Amino acid sequence: MKIVTLTLNPALDKSTSVERMIPEQKLRSAAMQIDAGGGGINVSKGIAKLGGHSTAVFPVGGHNGGLLRSLVEDAGIATATVEIKGETRENISVLETTSNLQYRFTLPGAPIGLADAQACLNQVRTLQPDILVASGSLPPGLPETYFEEVAEFAKQINAKFILDTSGKPLQHAADEGVFLLKPNLGELSALSGVPELALNRVDDAALEIINAGKCEVVVVSLGPQGALLVTRDGFEHIPAPTVKKVSTVGAGDSMVAGMVWALSTGKSYLEMVQTGVACGSAATMNTGTKLFDRERVDELLEWIRTFSSKYRLTDF
Ligand SMILES: Nc1ncnc2c1ncn2[C@@H]1O[C@H](COP(=O)(O)OP(=O)(O)OP(=O)(O)O)[C@@H](O)[C@H]1O
Ligand SMILES: [Mg+2]
Repeated sequence: MKIVTLTLNPALDKSTSVERMIPEQKLRSAAMQIDAGGGGINVSKGIAKLGGHSTAVFPVGGHNGGLLRSLVEDAGIATATVEIKGETRENISVLETTSNLQYRFTLPGAPIGLADAQACLNQVRTLQPDILVASGSLPPGLPETYFEEVAEFAKQINAKFILDTSGKPLQHAADEGVFLLKPNLGELSALSGVPELALNRVDDAALEIINAGKCEVVVVSLGPQGALLVTRDGFEHIPAPTVKKVSTVGAGDSMVAGMVWALSTGKSYLEMVQTGVACGSAATMNTGTKLFDRERVDELLEWIRTFSSKYRLTDF
């Protein structure tokens, strides 16, 4: 199955560290680490780590854009990019090692207009994916309804659309209808139109979303509690193993990567979510932008499978 990821708001993530943040002084810093960032690009990186293939579609601008594209390609990922005017944005994070505090600077990037976003969709059309994944926020300049158009477009090209975003853009896309949603508790509450969801209401809330035609599968991610898989046929809770948490940055994208990869290799929904939870939990064992190590995923998956086969209630 052909996988395409769509990242409308990509960035260069630059990180360094200093012993102490002191104003007015030259601060001796570690060598700058530069990574390609943005939801869909992270998902593509995760899929590559699992040995799968995907093509990443994203806009690129200026020198930053060129560097972004080569970083993605160096990770063994095929790219289909759209040239935009101006520079691709960059984020800078500085870790103060004495306090372990992170200072994060988000720099403005070139705006991405509707025509650029449309050109990205044209790239997707040319690639004819079986699975289309969009993750991350929308850049300023695009309307909140943008993912609704992507959802409609995915139906036209017969692709399974997996969307991991939040707020109004998520609601609009859900109203159009997608294949799979992976909300966390906050996102699920917002989708259900309530300020906060009790844990024992999560299954009903997810089922209501399915019954309203918003998607076929809901995977509610529950952080250290793992995830809840909900389809028309039933529910299953997939627990997350207890791990030594270093940073939860990238857990959501790693989870989506694991799920997409499993789905593309013909796995059941249960195995899909088990793989997703394993990747998400493995990601929390690594620092910031590193996502996960493949060996960790295999170990955690083994734990999750054993646990599930002992205690599972429903057949998927
Ligand atoms: N503290 C943790 N311990 C173990 N696993 C975790 C932990 N936090 C997250 N995970 C794993 O990562 C998956 C996704 O995490 P989470 O539910 O926090 O997603 P999210 O809120 O969408 O994250 P993101 O901020 O990356 O978008 C979980 O289902 C779980 O497998
Ligand atoms: Mg998330």
